[in-house]
Amino acid sequence: MKITNTYKTTAKYYDSDNKDLLKDDIDFYIDYANKLNGKVLELGCGTGRITIPVARSGHQIWGLDASEPMLDVLWKKAKKESKTTIDNLNISTGDMRNFELNQKFKLIFIPFRTFQNLITDEEQKNCLKCTYDHLTDDGLFIVNVFKPWGLIDGSWVQPEQTDYETIQDGIKIKRTHIRERVDLNNQVIYPTLIYYVTNKDGKTEKYYEHLAMKYYYVDQLRELLQKNGFEVINEFGYYDKCSIEEGGEIIFVCKRS
Ligand SMILES: C[S@@+](CC[C@H](N)C(=O)[O-])C[C@H]1O[C@@H](n2cnc3c(N)ncnc32)[C@H](O)[C@@H]1O
Repeated sequence: MKITNTYKTTAKYYDSDNKDLLKDDIDFYIDYANKLNGKVLELGCGTGRITIPVARSGHQIWGLDASEPMLDVLWKKAKKESKTTIDNLNISTGDMRNFELNQKFKLIFIPFRTFQNLITDEEQKNCLKCTYDHLTDDGLFIVNVFKPWGLIDGSWVQPEQTDYETIQDGIKIKRTHIRERVDLNNQVIYPTLIYYVTNKDGKTEKYYEHLAMKYYYVDQLRELLQKNGFEVINEFGYYDKCSIEEGGEIIFVCKRS
């Protein structure tokens, strides 16, 4: 089955995004890894933005991702780490909708809205089944999605807007996005990310990432988790653990029910 949102041509610019959200969740997951003190699995580990800091903080972490270009960036970054950190990394290419790692984990997380890449009921169910089967009886599963801002309707569609501009290794990167299309029946948005990369020779190249993201209201995601064998034991609106009503994210901490 086709996998979308794998940053095939844009992986090397993924980490250039230095918005706060891309930092605030790291300590949140490290805290859970410290508390649970066992093997950790991150589904959709990407460039290792969270994976590497978890490994650096002394935990054995397994990372699964479908995108070779994202994992190439992970390994390039990991090379700069200590041998202990590198030894803590167990990375494989795979599909979070269908995986078998032949072991169980104390902590499994699907961070930064990655679960929203799974559009159909079947994909979500398969991923949750594999996650359930890989979690120890006393383990925790954490999943994050964004909170829909009010009611999403046709007005969600918007022309190109700039998100940020930055310089990475002397290369200028401007990222914009276009809100292309929304499927209100199936609750899926289709944004496109565009990276304008200006090289040292002054030439600008344009790279596109066409995303598809299922959106959930708080009760819908809670029900989906319950139907698939999980009990939500904590829920937060952001990584500072504010209430779900206050924050712009939905973060569910679950155990096997
Ligand atoms: C938004 S990025 C998150 C990366 C990283 N966890 C982070 O927080 O920065 C989503 C990642 O999920 C991966 N992905 C998307 N669909 C997947 C699937 N079905 N199985 C495994 N990985 C998938 C993509 O390749 C991408 O690296």
